[in-house]
Amino acid sequence: MEKIVSLSKRRGFIFQSSDIYGGLSNTWDYGPYGVELKNNLKASWWRSSVYERDDIFGMDAAILMHPKVWEASGHVKNFFDLKSDCKNCKKRFKTEELKDKNKCPECAGVLTESRPFNLMFKTYQGAIEESGNEIYMRPETAQGMFVNFINILDSKHPKLPFGLAQIGKSFRNEITPGNFTFRTREFEQMEIEYFVDPKEADKKLEEWIDYRFNWYLTLGLKKDVLRKRPHQKDELAHYAKACTDIEYNFPFGWSELEGVANRTDFDLKQHTEHSGRDLRYFDDATKERFYPYIIEPSGGVDRSVLAFLVDAYNEEKVRDDTRVVLKLHKDLAPIKVAVLPLLRNRPEIVELAKKITQGLKKEFIAVYDDTGSIGKLYRRQDEVGTLYCVTVDVQTLTDKQVTVRHRDTMQQDRIGIDRLQEYLINKLGTVLKLI
Ligand code: GAP
Repeated sequence: MEKIVSLSKRRGFIFQSSDIYGGLSNTWDYGPYGVELKNNLKASWWRSSVYERDDIFGMDAAILMHPKVWEASGHVKNFFDLKSDCKNCKKRFKTEELKDKNKCPECAGVLTESRPFNLMFKTYQGAIEESGNEIYMRPETAQGMFVNFINILDSKHPKLPFGLAQIGKSFRNEITPGNFTFRTREFEQMEIEYFVDPKEADKKLEEWIDYRFNWYLTLGLKKDVLRKRPHQKDELAHYAKACTDIEYNFPFGWSELEGVANRTDFDLKQHTEHSGRDLRYFDDATKERFYPYIIEPSGGVDRSVLAFLVDAYNEEKVRDDTRVVLKLHKDLAPIKVAVLPLLRNRPEIVELAKKITQGLKKEFIAVYDDTGSIGKLYRRQDEVGTLYCVTVDVQTLTDKQVTVRHRDTMQQDRIGIDRLQEYLINKLGTVLKLI
């Protein structure tokens, strides 16, 4: 993990937030490569969850919602962790993480009795900070989809089963954030709410667990670092009847990337009761009105980015040197092609390399770089996972060919400039555009 944190900072993937003020603990900013990686990950999720299916619609609900939403959802009453405070050093701990429930693990002081601590961030809406104006920062994107269920029925008239998908920020006042971007207080979720006939729910849950598990595999994670872990009854969230976590074997152990849950009809029933609007679905064929069950695959963008970074990190011996290379899947790699002039003091070479870059930019995320010797430039591009390096040399000026070096094999091909785009398209296939 230290190597990942260090590379992230050194190369511009992820920085400590508010660094110049000493940093805000457990809060992170994505830099130039980090934001590309994150956007690529989200684009891949969106493609697999929305564009490649006929039964899911995209959404983007507001972060701030009516306070009654969180009463109905059960978050005001049930969304808490148990915490214990040290009477001596005043540190706060999550009770379930304590080996000895009475003794402080840091200073051996006496701990208070364990008490519930609600994880929702509160703020005020409007100019006056007083009770009655309190609202919450959403702790999950899911509720934005449940409260729009009726709008989707009225505007799209879908038949069951169908789903809604959205990506967005969520906030939780975690007692013990940590492990870099793994557990933070502000994070992004990618969630699907899939509405099904209750009779189909068990089957659809299994289908979704497989569908989501396979998404991680298609982006390059191997089966030996991924696993499905069904929840025990006592770990289920207050709304869930069943849930299976998809876990990745991080350097700090197996940990959750995503949960796929059967939320039953809990949410639609609760919102019907609290809002007074009838959120039942009408089945034209049977003329029945009923509450669908909801299957929810809920993943974390930041956790996935971290898992893909960890997984892609490789150190390889190259002669007397060690090459650090991020072997990210081609769809995830922040930069697809870098164009490098072999001699940066030859204006004709520089000019041609820049022209080639501009041409490639129409198709791929391509960059031009002349800030070091060719060896250094290759190493730098390897460290950020750039898939291809195109080198323009003296010979290029006469034979109109460039050298294309592949990131993983370091194999080099000599290709005519007029064939370069086609060569790269063949290698890269459909490269995901930004959302
Ligand atoms: N709507 C269901 C729900 O929110 P969850 O298991 O609490 O379920 C879903 O969260 C996913 O959101 C997790 O699998 C994880 O990837 C991500 N997530 C949750 N809390 C997080 C945190 N504090 N920091 C980073 N990611 C988090």
